[in-house]
Amino acid sequence: MRALGISLGTWCLGFRNRHSAERTERTGKNGVHTWFLGAATMRLNQNTLLLGKKVVLVPYTSEHVPRYHEWMKSEELQRLTASEPLSLEQEYAMQRSWREDADKCTFIVLDAEKWQAQPGTTEESCMVGDVNLFLTDLEDPTLGEIEVMIAEPSFRGKGLGTEAVLMMLSYGVTRLDLTKFEAKIGQGNEPSIRMFQKLHFEQVAVSSVFQEVTLRLTISESEHEWLLEQTSHVEEKPYRDGSAEPC
Ligand SMILES: CC(C)(COP(=O)(O)OP(=O)(O)OC[C@H]1O[C@@H](n2cnc3c(N)ncnc32)[C@H](O)[C@@H]1OP(=O)(O)O)[C@@H](O)C(=O)NCCC(=O)NCCS
Repeated sequence: MRALGISLGTWCLGFRNRHSAERTERTGKNGVHTWFLGAATMRLNQNTLLLGKKVVLVPYTSEHVPRYHEWMKSEELQRLTASEPLSLEQEYAMQRSWREDADKCTFIVLDAEKWQAQPGTTEESCMVGDVNLFLTDLEDPTLGEIEVMIAEPSFRGKGLGTEAVLMMLSYGVTRLDLTKFEAKIGQGNEPSIRMFQKLHFEQVAVSSVFQEVTLRLTISESEHEWLLEQTSHVEEKPYRDGSAEPC
């Protein structure tokens, strides 16, 4: 979740500071106005649970922080997500930022099988990753940047990343009025690039400075239909903080 650093740029480097810088550059009068109009929609997910076939998406709460913090000690994940390691205290502050800031939308990805098979189990024990959306263009609140991480290696390559992204795209379109998505991916991250390409994203830019590619998906009418078809099984339910019970 490299973008967790957006509002805490002084702690973080790389992508995190880059997003802050982009925002600072675009604080024109109209830009700010548009930003807050669009931003008001992004907190919608704080009481939302999305139930898919392979994954369950829940809002990022303090219950999830210890495991998340453990994941991000991995140098591989730091590299793949362009994240800097944070202290546990910083991670809690980051979680609050994601929960409270209006310009970000984040879900923790739970393994649906475990979550459903073991009623009463903690969410923390079902966690496998996260998926995020955030607004990056002050002048265009219909553009969302998407990121995903299946942090647990044993859960990769099983379709969880794909379903989490599809669910997030669909949520972004239907609930947040987004019509365009971008994914910024390290040039060497073949699994991620391929996954987004399979999800109809096309490469639109290469940055030699950040050594990353930008892939984009524009939601045309046909893409909209396709997305709704791909996620027709997804159920949206109210989420209660700390609720570990499958609904
Ligand atoms: C990239 C990532 C999100 C993919 O999620 P996943 O659940 O492992 O991927 P899926 O099982 O849904 O696979 C979807 C497609 O991605 C591609 N893919 C996945 N793993 C791959 C691998 N090891 N090598 C090549 N392609 C791969 C394939 O095209 C695959 O489709 P296929 O199974 O029909 O061949 C996951 O591997 C991950 O989180 N990695 C670490 C963190 C990261 O890189 N995050 C992205 C930062 S931009």
